[in-house]
Amino acid sequence: MGELEPFQNAVSRIDYPMAIVTAAAGDERSGCLVGFHTQCSIDPARFLVCISRRNHTFAVAARSEHLAVHFLDRSDYPLSLLFGEQSGDTVDKFARCSWRAELGVPVLTGARAWFVGRVLDRVSFGDHVGHLLEPVTGRVADEELDQLAFQDVKTMQPGHPG
Ligand SMILES: Cc1cc2nc3c(=O)[nH]c(=O)nc-3n(C[C@H](O)[C@H](O)[C@H](O)COP(=O)(O)O)c2cc1C
Repeated sequence: MGELEPFQNAVSRIDYPMAIVTAAAGDERSGCLVGFHTQCSIDPARFLVCISRRNHTFAVAARSEHLAVHFLDRSDYPLSLLFGEQSGDTVDKFARCSWRAELGVPVLTGARAWFVGRVLDRVSFGDHVGHLLEPVTGRVADEELDQLAFQDVKTMQPGHPG
């Protein structure tokens, strides 16, 4: 048994909400499904999103002044497939979904809870880079959020594995 096996086994069993993060720089747009995200300060309000260096989203997020974070409902499963299994390297995800720009970044139509945050800092954590966000605007729909979670999507084949 490898040293990391107990850790990998443990984290494959826990649950956490899934989100889609989107970014824009110039006329380039990108976005991917993320599990590595969390609020990390109350006052001031701060949120951390970790993006893999391998992803198409990474290069665009590196030049994006803002990022949009969409918390997903179980009914957003098809959207999570688009953003989690396809890569902007080969597919224009934004031609396959409905969105509008807010503060320059794409906000996905129908997302029940989303916010746009200004990128305050980028911190290397290894193969993922943490993007520290200051929430600037957002919206929450009246409907309850029946959260799409890691255990619902963990068998997906990521566009960029690893
Ligand atoms: C369950 C699951 C969790 C994921 N979590 C993250 C994550 O936290 N951060 C990240 O950068 N990519 C994550 N990914 C991978 C990207 O969503 C995926 O590779 C995507 O296709 C990348 O798209 P892009 O190349 O257009 O950026 C996850 C994928 C899945 C299926």
